[in-house]
Amino acid sequence: MTENSAERRALMLREMGLTPQWHLRQPSAAMPTPAAAAAGDSAGAGGVDAVAAVAAPEGQAQDRSGRIMGMDWAGLRNDVSACTACALHARRHKTVFGVGDENADWLFVGEGPGADEDAQGEPFVGQAGKLLDSMLAAIQLKRGHNVYIANVVKCRPPNNRNPEAGEALACEPYLHRQIELIKPKLIVALGKVAAVNLLASDASVASMRNKVHRYRGIPLIVTYHPAYLLRSLQEKARAWEDLCFAVDTLQALQNGDAGSI
Ligand code: URA
Ligand code: SF4
Repeated sequence: MTENSAERRALMLREMGLTPQWHLRQPSAAMPTPAAAAAGDSAGAGGVDAVAAVAAPEGQAQDRSGRIMGMDWAGLRNDVSACTACALHARRHKTVFGVGDENADWLFVGEGPGADEDAQGEPFVGQAGKLLDSMLAAIQLKRGHNVYIANVVKCRPPNNRNPEAGEALACEPYLHRQIELIKPKLIVALGKVAAVNLLASDASVASMRNKVHRYRGIPLIVTYHPAYLLRSLQEKARAWEDLCFAVDTLQALQNGDAGSI
């Protein structure tokens, strides 16, 4: 953190409802272990078998991917709204394409739509979305202004389960093309599913935080998923640190200080 960030920090903490938490600088013995942060998260558990079971034959998948890579925003939107490339299409009410500034510096990537998003067709509009909006406000960002919000999968997994590997793989060309079109300066992966799919790594969120990763050359930071934060106040304080790290990283990039990243 830089010098004058103390004031910004205080403001952000208020936005996130974290003021009393911030003084707990050292993790206490009672804090959950990093492993607990990823507990209950079975992303990737489907593994190779799930991919083989769901994905289209390789040639077809490549054709589809190539087609998607040539799409503009309108074409991409249309394609997603009619997509049946994985089993998640069967039970969706609305596809959830993504929302925001198509030229944003910031891209936040979640996991997949929940019930509210499935009903409204917009990402992060339920409880977790309210927290995400507060997190954005904490760093002076607002949905739609210099921020784009998307998910790993565009259709709701039943009962809010994690997307299976094959589903994430089928949907990946859409997110990839969105990223190509947006050209964000920084990607924030919200939670393990986003991190695992964007970084092709099965590491825990706790171990991936606080580092600048790359997605096809674009700097990427990992933090906890807002739905997880709703259940864990202590991790909220860590998410706050991650946001500060993200702000500082983007600032360094904009100052042409990429060498330090
Ligand atoms: N959780 C997500 O990962 N994405 C949403 O859009 C909503 C909840
Ligand atoms: Fe298509 Fe993605 Fe929906 Fe699967 S989740 S049907 S790949 S849009």
